[in-house]
Amino acid sequence: MPAVATTQVAIIGAGPAGLLLAQLLHLQGIDSVILEQRSEAYVLGRVRAGLLESPTVEVLREAGVADRMAVEGVEHHGIHLRFDGRTHQLDFAGTTGRQAMNYGQAEVVKDLIRHRRATGRPLVFEAEAVTPTGFESLDGHGPAVVTWRDEHGEHRLTADFIAGCDGFHGVSRVAIPPGTITAAQRSYPFAWLGILARTRPTLPEVVYSAHQDGLSVHSMRGHELTRQYLQVPADTVLDDWPDERIWTELTRRHAADDVGPLATGEVIDRTLAPLRSVVFSPMQYGRMFLAGDAVHIVPPTGAKGLNLAVSDVSVLSHALGGYYAGAGSHHLAEYTRTSLPRIWQAELFSWQMTTMLHRFPGDEFDRGLQRARLEQVVASPTQIAALGELYFGLPFPRHWSFRD
Ligand code: FAD
Ligand code: DHB
Repeated sequence: MPAVATTQVAIIGAGPAGLLLAQLLHLQGIDSVILEQRSEAYVLGRVRAGLLESPTVEVLREAGVADRMAVEGVEHHGIHLRFDGRTHQLDFAGTTGRQAMNYGQAEVVKDLIRHRRATGRPLVFEAEAVTPTGFESLDGHGPAVVTWRDEHGEHRLTADFIAGCDGFHGVSRVAIPPGTITAAQRSYPFAWLGILARTRPTLPEVVYSAHQDGLSVHSMRGHELTRQYLQVPADTVLDDWPDERIWTELTRRHAADDVGPLATGEVIDRTLAPLRSVVFSPMQYGRMFLAGDAVHIVPPTGAKGLNLAVSDVSVLSHALGGYYAGAGSHHLAEYTRTSLPRIWQAELFSWQMTTMLHRFPGDEFDRGLQRARLEQVVASPTQIAALGELYFGLPFPRHWSFRD
């Protein structure tokens, strides 16, 4: 007989979306169980994004999980765009009055796990064969069910709702009957090779270098580590890129008349991520709600992925808070309609940043347009303000706490 437990919200996936949703629900007195297929060490060791928009920073602060970020995060007031051997500093804070934060996703996840533990509510790692069922109707009878297996045996959890926060390759979205959800998508003929290195940042804020051989990005994790990316072909194999080759390419693309050479050092992590844009819709089926990478992907240019996950769970926690406060399932039924417009704004922004900054197979005309766009973006405070408004993050559709 499997062990049986009951909760209000079963959350599948302990990435930023699942962990933050659990915290926002906890603050409203709502119970949840988080089920994660990987080990805690694996989840903590995953190096990914690092730029937090201002609405994301605000939600993390209000969720009470930003204590370490306030000390160790690096505030950003803008970005640098480098092309034709020149670096342009774009001051977004000056034009938008807002700031962003450079603080690694791994650190956000670490903070969220620590706070989850402090609540005493369940967080299960190494949950195998997680299977959601019984969620087909929003107002139907009988609970949704999630089963899984671990070293202690088989488990069965009944819940009012399921939050599918299990990333692009998770089980939640595919558990929804085929034909119910449609995908709108683009793929790009390149990937990002990312490194974490023991070198000091050359500039205090992110640098995007649009080089004729492809984009490179120079970012940081604190003041002693850099996070850097290279545009590489989609079929790249990491083993073909020893450290020396990575540094040679980064140094070449980073070079400009107004900067010194790039510092090189020990590479402590490398990742390879394909670039694609995908939006699945609707984001809900019955009592299953999808959030984060489980329901949309953006190419990393402009760092919207993690921020979108935060925006989704902000809306979802608001809707669930409304339900448990006695306002019915109205906000839950509106989850997709509330969230999608901002998701599409982020998709548009990420696509525009990607097309502006990467080297594409196109012809001379395409390159002329690309260069004209770069010149346009740095040309006036109005253009800089327009980019900054999107880069630092449009307001979230709904504040996480339930107020209306
Ligand atoms: P995830 O972080 O993917 O979390 C999903 C969780 O669900 C994971 O812990 C996973 O192990 C778990 N899970 C999956 N399947 C199951 C299952 N069957 N049962 C239980 N649990 C399951 N964005 C940027 O903006 N900039 C970047 O530089 C950047 N780099 C990236 C590099 C890589 C290699 C990847 C994959 C993504 C990157 N992203 C980047 C995107 C960003 O990290 C994501 O948008 C963000 O992690 C989304 O959070 P999430 O919680 O929705 O999903
Ligand atoms: C980082 C990631 C991005 O995708 C980006 O556009 C800028 C910075 C980062 O990991 O710091």
